[in-house]
Amino acid sequence: MLQNQTNEYLHGFSEEEQMRLIAQNKVLSPDIYAWLDLSKSKHLLEIGCGVGAQMIEILKRFPEIKMTGIDLHEAQIIKAKELLGNSGINPTRYELITGNILDSLDIKNEFDDILLVWVLEHVKNPSELLRSGQQYLRKGGKIHITEVYNRSFDLYPASPKILSFWKRMDEFQNSLGGNGQIGIELGNLLCESGFTKIQTHSHPLFFDKTKPERRATFLSYWTELMESSALTMIANNAISKEEWIEVENLMHLIQSDENAIFYYSWIQACGEK
Ligand SMILES: C[S@@+](CC[C@H](N)C(=O)[O-])C[C@H]1O[C@@H](n2cnc3c(N)ncnc32)[C@H](O)[C@@H]1O
Repeated sequence: MLQNQTNEYLHGFSEEEQMRLIAQNKVLSPDIYAWLDLSKSKHLLEIGCGVGAQMIEILKRFPEIKMTGIDLHEAQIIKAKELLGNSGINPTRYELITGNILDSLDIKNEFDDILLVWVLEHVKNPSELLRSGQQYLRKGGKIHITEVYNRSFDLYPASPKILSFWKRMDEFQNSLGGNGQIGIELGNLLCESGFTKIQTHSHPLFFDKTKPERRATFLSYWTELMESSALTMIANNAISKEEWIEVENLMHLIQSDENAIFYYSWIQACGEK
């Protein structure tokens, strides 16, 4: 459903968008946590925790972990408190803070690990953010990052209109100060920010008729992701409502094509202090 929204964050902070972050994580988490190893972590800081989608996932997957989540936007933290409160997770295992990691914050803990998922793509100064986060990490502690690499997206049957929308979305994200290709830079950014023992990992999401269920799930999720960006683009006159509806219809057409192929590769990286 189309609704108007105006803000400087590609996806916005509406209730609908907040619930999309939770639904998105249900689709993505098996792949995110296939490479990400938090099994030795006791105390983890998530920078840009949003509405707590990763926190709920991690606190359930790793029953020994305690987590602190910080987010710039109070609306996200209020929703995170509600969702975590309803999750059945013991509230002594987590705390939630509204704040900017770039500011000097009253966080006393030295964390074993820091997590960033889908955050650096939206910020103007990723190296500065990584350096600011590093001060809260104990010596030998690890940082774990998962990020987009939007140029990797491809779809069959080929659809120039969908790919053109995707490119314009990328340009729009750049105009907001973000970077849809940030994933490919993660290793370099961690080097520049003083981390050591850096590892990078490209994670292909490749679904064809041999994986019809996962393909259907992803094509439907991807259409919602695109719509979420399209709403902000429409509100900022970056595309028209009609252009988005045409792209949305093409996405639905591909969803009903038994030969459809979905390809995307995100990038993960970790490093040590
Ligand atoms: C796309 S959301 C990701 C939420 C969550 N990590 C997830 O996977 O669902 C990115 C979040 O990063 C937050 N953020 C961006 N810059 C930040 C900063 N400097 N300090 C704290 N949070 C920040 C935004 O407010 C936004 O809620």
